[in-house]
Amino acid sequence: MKKLGLIKVAVFTACLLPFAQLLLAAFGLAGQSLGANPIEELIHQLGLWGLRLLLLTLAITPLRRITGKVWLLKLRRMLGLFSFFYVLLHFLSYAILDQGLNFAAIGEDILERPYITLGITALMMLIPLAVTSTNGWMRRLGRRWKKLHQLVYVIAILGVWHFFWQVKLDTREPLVYAGILIVLLGYRIWLKRKR
Ligand code: HEM
Repeated sequence: MKKLGLIKVAVFTACLLPFAQLLLAAFGLAGQSLGANPIEELIHQLGLWGLRLLLLTLAITPLRRITGKVWLLKLRRMLGLFSFFYVLLHFLSYAILDQGLNFAAIGEDILERPYITLGITALMMLIPLAVTSTNGWMRRLGRRWKKLHQLVYVIAILGVWHFFWQVKLDTREPLVYAGILIVLLGYRIWLKRKR
């Protein structure tokens, strides 16, 4: 297998590790556990991994420019799709395990809890990006593909904002994510101005 193939397999496996660990913890296997509030812990961990992978996806362009390693771009789609995978599981854990698929209660949450409104908006925006991430859609949409995929910046802002709004007291952790996002978006603005 070529070097890029090996890197892709390694990144794919690494992206699956949090899922595997949560699966073991959910079933209390291999000494793993979700603690006293398993549903809450599951929702939190899936949300965190969704956000981490989203920021990692956004880090690819700056990393490529700084290191000059063009092959990094080949990992971007996989990281983005894994982010979608974790966010979707995050939403499904909330809807099924926490809300028992009570659509009226979910609808009420979406309308009345601002952080849920932000979360669902971000998820709805992620869906078209995941669907059009294939080479076929890239070709079909042409220049519009790039425009559409710029939605990822809005999604990341909504994701961090959603995180910030759902914490009760200690805002340090969401602020760290906000700081990383500011650097990633700031780099793009700086690059555009330089050009
Ligand atoms: C791009 C989309 C989303 C991202 C990146 C995201 C990310 C996160 C993060 C990082 C947390 C905090 C985890 C922690 O405190 O350790 C969180 C919490 C949460 N999210 Fe999301 N989320 C998204 C979409 C959604 C959606 C669509 C829903 C449901 C409609 C949702 C429901 C929740 C709930 C219920 C919590 C826990 C709140 C609590 O414990 O009080 N999220 N999310």
